[in-house]
Amino acid sequence: MTNFNEIPNRRNNSNSIKWQFYPKDVLPMWVADMEFPAPKPILRALHKAVDHGVLGYEMPSRALQETAASRMDKLYRWKVKPEAVVAVTGIVNGFSVAVRIACTPKKGVLMQTPVYNEFHEVKNNIGIPLLEAPLIKHVTGNILSYEIDWDIFEKQVKKAGMFLLCNPHNPLGIIFSRKDLLKMAELCIRNNVLIVSDEIHSELIMGDNKFSPLAKLSAEIAKHTITLISPSKTFNVAGLFCGFAIITDKELRERFEKEVNHLRMHVGSLGLIAAQAAFSGACDGWLKELLRYLTDNRDFLVEYVTEYMPQVRLTIPDATYLCWLDFTQTKIVGSPYEFFLKNAKVAASEGKIFGESGEGHIRLNFGTSRKLLEQGLEQMRKALH
Ligand SMILES: Cc1ncc(COP(=O)(O)O)c(C=O)c1O
Repeated sequence: MTNFNEIPNRRNNSNSIKWQFYPKDVLPMWVADMEFPAPKPILRALHKAVDHGVLGYEMPSRALQETAASRMDKLYRWKVKPEAVVAVTGIVNGFSVAVRIACTPKKGVLMQTPVYNEFHEVKNNIGIPLLEAPLIKHVTGNILSYEIDWDIFEKQVKKAGMFLLCNPHNPLGIIFSRKDLLKMAELCIRNNVLIVSDEIHSELIMGDNKFSPLAKLSAEIAKHTITLISPSKTFNVAGLFCGFAIITDKELRERFEKEVNHLRMHVGSLGLIAAQAAFSGACDGWLKELLRYLTDNRDFLVEYVTEYMPQVRLTIPDATYLCWLDFTQTKIVGSPYEFFLKNAKVAASEGKIFGESGEGHIRLNFGTSRKLLEQGLEQMRKALH
């Protein structure tokens, strides 16, 4: 059994962005990595490589492609050929490459806001329009839920070269339904729009929720889709920058690979080793325990906010260790992110970086020990009152 209550100190002797960016008296609950060490099989594989001593240039092996492909079969009964799996230097790089093959100054990138801040940055990549299809917010009691505005989606998809889907969704924690996925895909295909499905959070599933990749829905959808997966969030190895693009259509894959080669993007050797161990199945026991702990953290967070800060609205994420909180009904004037940084010494993610509709909101990372989560919430509660 892993004791997730015990976490290493990342404040000292580390280059952690999360822990080094703010002054020492601030509790960081922002960057999307967790406070837990990676599972033992990954650490053992990395130790072995370090002990070997030679850390030269390496390339993704056939065995690694096979391991990633069999993980898709094992988890979802999704059969992909090993050659459909292309290693990338992280998921942000993966979708940034895809933008280069699918978008032009006239054909933009479509996304469902509020959404992961790096999605917004792709417009600067080659100077292309960013097309937003904001999700519609609903409130029941203090619980937030979101749904697709189909009128806007249909209008925007006509102007797009690529649809960048975030499923499960960061920061809202949504797993989109099969019905919604089919409709989104159908509209994209009809309008000749490439689908890039960022599924980096797909193994961080809370409670009894289920996930299935978009491209598994039909061969026709798979043909128009680049699926992006990675061990980085699930197994907390984000700093090793190794992810995968699964591209079943040969021609599309060749166009993607050509661009990857132009940019000379090579995955680091330790990233490849970690991915092999992560997707091999050896860490699945650890993952099961992690998901139980994270689900309890999520429930603790929702109950705490509901009881002690009832005017605050929040999501109950289906997936991810990220929660989205709405402070528009509280007495906070201006940005809640700035308010809590100053008055609670808690650093959350500023809602506005996820899109305009994120104003008055923050994203809180609960991938930490229960003790630190409670401490952060306590500090926020005191500041709010
Ligand atoms: C939806 C989403 N995609 C991609 C990333 C980052 O991926 P990478 O570090 O592999 O570039 C994140 C990290 O938070 C994310 O939430």
